[in-house]
Amino acid sequence: MSTFHPLRVTAVERLTDDSVALSFAVPPELRPLYGYAPGQHIALRRHRPGADTLTASSEARRTYSLCAPARAEPSELRIGIRGVEGGDFSSYAVKELRPGDLVDVLPPTGRFVLQPRPGRFAAVVGGSGITPVLSIASTLLEREPEARFCLVRSDRSTASTMFLDEVADLKDRCPDRFQLVTALSREEQQSGLPSGRLDERRLSGLLPSLLPVADVDGWYLCGPLGLVEEASRALRGLGVPRARIHQEIFHVTEAPPAPAATRGDAGGSRSASLTANLDGRSGCWPMDDGESVLETVLRHRADAPFACKGGVCGTCRVRLVSGEVRMKVNYALEPDELEAGYVLACQSRPVTEAVEVDFDG
Ligand code: FES
Repeated sequence: MSTFHPLRVTAVERLTDDSVALSFAVPPELRPLYGYAPGQHIALRRHRPGADTLTASSEARRTYSLCAPARAEPSELRIGIRGVEGGDFSSYAVKELRPGDLVDVLPPTGRFVLQPRPGRFAAVVGGSGITPVLSIASTLLEREPEARFCLVRSDRSTASTMFLDEVADLKDRCPDRFQLVTALSREEQQSGLPSGRLDERRLSGLLPSLLPVADVDGWYLCGPLGLVEEASRALRGLGVPRARIHQEIFHVTEAPPAPAATRGDAGGSRSASLTANLDGRSGCWPMDDGESVLETVLRHRADAPFACKGGVCGTCRVRLVSGEVRMKVNYALEPDELEAGYVLACQSRPVTEAVEVDFDG
């Protein structure tokens, strides 16, 4: 089971007014544990000021994508962080962290991954959604000479665009295999693209003019929920099968849909029991009314994995062994994972009297 390790910050590089790239040193004995695939992320933990003991409620956790090419035994981890309004953790990371500080870091996880292979790949990203795609594209182009990558990125303005130099560098190194289109919503630009937001209609016209859509082996969509949904609809409208579309959501501002009925809603018995297997040990506990699977487990096992608690990062993924649950939202699991019986513990509430989940499965 993955546990946090304190890693030392070695560099804080300002990318834009509101974003930084943070680097951490990985000691030699931890390097195999912190190996990562292109597109994966790490969770960081901060003890909330004023809290004496480290419990799930006294800490803040956030996940951030790794931006450097993938390494099996990295001596360094580099991530991109954009400060978000009202975001405790991101403001702390962008404004307060300094080289020499120690930060608790979980080993890399995540399934928004492209293992290098020959073929044609493409991405549509918005804002800080460039972060995992930078790792994906640079690893692919570095390791696989028979691969091509097309990146469509959107941002507000040049000044707010993260990793400008790194992306330009990819273009210089692989001019024939890396294609870049930038759309700026609040700035005139020279690329011939009009300014304004990238939406389904614009993407439906733009993508076929850039590359043979049907020949693309994998599409990687990353950024705010709105952009990812618009891009996904555009691709489906262009005939791209769902299995070729991979997506990772970075910001969710829309209110989630009302959840369907679960145990504890009006009528019927309110008690449900939860059996959970975590790190090879099993426990069975009653669930409190309205509690999620993750909340029940955390009352008994502080080592249960989670980060966002918002259905976005996928860190709390569990396999449903028996019973039925209903998720409030799911921005993390792909259709094939749902089909295989995986659910998000932070979003799952019981529908049946007994539920069993496996964190290790
Ligand atoms: S903790 Fe992030 S999806 Fe559950």
